Amino acid sequence: MKTLIICFSQTGNTRRIAEQIRNGIVEVTGQCDMKKLDEVDKNSLADYDLVGLGCPVFYYQEPFNVRNFIEDLPQLNGRHWFVFCTHGSVIGNTFPSMADRLQKKGVLVIGYHDSYADGTLPFYPYPTLTTGHPDALDLKEARAFGRKIAARSQRIAEGDKSLIPAPKSVPEAWVRSSQMLNPEFLQQTMPKLRIDMQKCIKCHECEDNCPVKGIDVESEPPRIQQPCVYCWNCAKVCPTLAIEGDWDMLVAMAPANYMHYREALDEAAARGEFRWLIDPDSIRFDDPLYKQREREIRIGGKDRS
Ligand SMILES: Cc1cc2nc3c(=O)[nH]c(=O)nc-3n(C[C@H](O)[C@H](O)[C@H](O)COP(=O)(O)O)c2cc1C
Repeated sequence: MKTLIICFSQTGNTRRIAEQIRNGIVEVTGQCDMKKLDEVDKNSLADYDLVGLGCPVFYYQEPFNVRNFIEDLPQLNGRHWFVFCTHGSVIGNTFPSMADRLQKKGVLVIGYHDSYADGTLPFYPYPTLTTGHPDALDLKEARAFGRKIAARSQRIAEGDKSLIPAPKSVPEAWVRSSQMLNPEFLQQTMPKLRIDMQKCIKCHECEDNCPVKGIDVESEPPRIQQPCVYCWNCAKVCPTLAIEGDWDMLVAMAPANYMHYREALDEAAARGEFRWLIDPDSIRFDDPLYKQREREIRIGGKDRS
């Protein structure tokens, strides 16, 4: 049995989960390749009996670069795939959306795994509601899922089709939110980024970390957000904070948004699906991540208070 895990991960949460799923698969099959999303040769995928595709949740759904990856796949008649993700408070419509698109490529989607994880957005507070995840227990669960999915794939291949699950249905409001937060809407409503060339040291970190190659600091004028998946990773990785956005509106929306997020997490905790690792009342809305980074850079990264 030949297996592969494909992973898109910006801040490492999905990668950590992916590694544990891989360890679990290896326990059962003795082998599992692992590739980053942009390293995958799509024409080699039919060689694999089981493929796992993992990513963070962005805007209640899979990131748009991951969606484009799925839509560019060749037909993979009957191949077994599973999908996994990491997320903050709301997984949204991620699994139904990914499964639906994979099925259109002839893939048999045989499993789903999600894990709560830390979140870093420039305009949101940090630490956040899910900081501390994935912890040791989340990683252990991911490894157990790896064992389970490998065994399941073997049994389905032997003919036991009853083991093929449907994605868990999600609240209609999550589906609507994912549809509303489409690329056109985000393009119109989200902050327009600019590069301050006085601060830019041409280290190219932003270019290297843009999942859609939407930045070129050498062009005249510099190119940014063309295209864009609205992940804000460029602003987060820039060592001199040369990439600027007007975060005020999103900072102002944070307390109201967090009320919903907290409600979703309380409900998940009541179902036994989430464990609080921080005190949600300790969240500081007056100190979003981008302000913390400004302070860090001003004082040489020594004092975060
Ligand atoms: C642009 C952006 C949008 C996000 N949207 C959501 C979301 O809709 N729901 C959610 O639960 N988490 C959301 N998150 C949090 C990420 O899913 C979470 O931090 C994830 O673990 C990041 O994975 P990575 O470390 O592998 O990049 C978002 C994060 C970013 C950067």
